Amino acid sequence: MAEQSLYDEQDAQARSLAWWVKTRQDEHALNHWLLDQHRGEATAARRILTLAERFTGPGSPEHRLLARIADQERRHADWVAGLLVARRLPVPVQLDTARERYWKHALPVISDLASGAAVGAHAERMRLWRIRAIAADPQAPADVREVFLRILPEERFHERAFRRLAGEAALRAALDGHERGMAVLGLRP
Ligand SMILES: [Fe+2]
Ligand SMILES: [Fe+2]
Repeated sequence: MAEQSLYDEQDAQARSLAWWVKTRQDEHALNHWLLDQHRGEATAARRILTLAERFTGPGSPEHRLLARIADQERRHADWVAGLLVARRLPVPVQLDTARERYWKHALPVISDLASGAAVGAHAERMRLWRIRAIAADPQAPADVREVFLRILPEERFHERAFRRLAGEAALRAALDGHERGMAVLGLRP
């Protein structure tokens, strides 16, 4: 399938697994990532709604799909907020994160629904690698694993939905910005 030429899936999954094995043993790093993840989910909800407002008609199937995805992202943010509260970490209200550097590279390609969905598909997939590593790990902190086991099927659904909305050409056009963003985050070897 074409997606095999888009990504080196195995390599990305292996790197996410290595990242997780290191992170789960390091309380500070885990907390930091959970904070970042919370911001990522909350920001995703807003970005997806913006995409719906800009490029889909109210009440259209695409608008409803994006609104549903945004709802789920907001719920993910709440679930992760629960993990933060359990760790007595303040649930942040403002966002200024390393992750923004990814978006600086990924977002400029957006000019319509397909290109916006392509950016979403790449970002969802990038996030899936780590979520999969956590969800599969019996040694993960039980509450963290439980939340990401709930999040995983919904993120899979998002990635598929965005990929479908985007189409192959838009996915390819957005790949360069995605890869530059990943390089900035140190997510590429
Ligand atoms: Fe999410
Ligand atoms: Fe998502």
